[in-house]
Amino acid sequence: MTCRSACGPPHSNDQGRQILVSSPSKLNLFLEVLARRDDGFHELETIMVRTSFCDTLSLSPRSDSRLVLRFSDTTSEVIRNSVPLDQSNLILRAAEALRNRVGFNDGADLVLHKVIPPQSGLGGGSGNAAATLLGLRRLYRLPISDEQLHELAAGLGSDVNFLLSGARAAVCRGRGEVISPLQLRGRYFFVATRPHQGNQTGRIFSGMRIPQQPVACGPLVELLQRGDASGIDQLIFNRLTDAARSHNPAMRSMMDEMQRRSRQHVWMSGSGSTVFVRCQSFIAAQRMRGFLQQVLRREAWVLQV
Ligand code: C5P
Repeated sequence: MTCRSACGPPHSNDQGRQILVSSPSKLNLFLEVLARRDDGFHELETIMVRTSFCDTLSLSPRSDSRLVLRFSDTTSEVIRNSVPLDQSNLILRAAEALRNRVGFNDGADLVLHKVIPPQSGLGGGSGNAAATLLGLRRLYRLPISDEQLHELAAGLGSDVNFLLSGARAAVCRGRGEVISPLQLRGRYFFVATRPHQGNQTGRIFSGMRIPQQPVACGPLVELLQRGDASGIDQLIFNRLTDAARSHNPAMRSMMDEMQRRSRQHVWMSGSGSTVFVRCQSFIAAQRMRGFLQQVLRREAWVLQV
């Protein structure tokens, strides 16, 4: 099972009655928390970008009504041991939500080729949910509009809508589910890695302080729309970083070590624990990946946007 190196928006290929859907990850280049809401969530202003680092989901019909989820044979042991395939998996939750919405009960075999680590702030699970909604709609030609899929997506998680939208970049507000796509110019190259321990999003939000004076995303949006990479390092920002650094000492040490060894800005995506640096080109990113893997003894990934 293959995926184009630059995934593009979630896309699918019909191969007989099997459908392959790419399930991209996202990076948060900006994340400000504006307020705590009555429903327990937080009001956000965040810039998300879709990256080339993606899982792949294969869907095929079953003659019964079961939804059977398994990993591809080439999914690593580490991922298999950290991602449950039971009803808590967003793929099965998305499939059930879609079937209930449409009043449809046919089953499907779902094979997940997973490379995006869980609890990493890269939206892997959210992308999988988006891929499931798109894949099942296509597999069974379900009569449900994009708008209705977005309603389902919002009930599944705060990042699902962005990854469902197919946008390359967007300012996301509300819980993260209100998407305003932005015209990103130029190409951007990041190298990401993470410590062994992931972060639980809810715990990171409860450990953060709402700022008196929120930082605005406008200046970064402007640079990204102009394709002017020169000043973006000064504007990439994540309000959750301090809370996550306190919560996850291994992530804190990793960020400090990366900063010291690479002499680059180091940022966190989402609620972590993935941290990343920006490089000028794909070649520079590949070099940086090798360097970070060597000094940190952790896997690292080149993420193209
Ligand atoms: O929506 P998602 O499943 O990603 O959220 C996980 C948890 O993160 C929520 O239960 C909530 O505690 C926290 N969260 C939040 N505000 C947001 C998004 C997530 O407080 N906008």
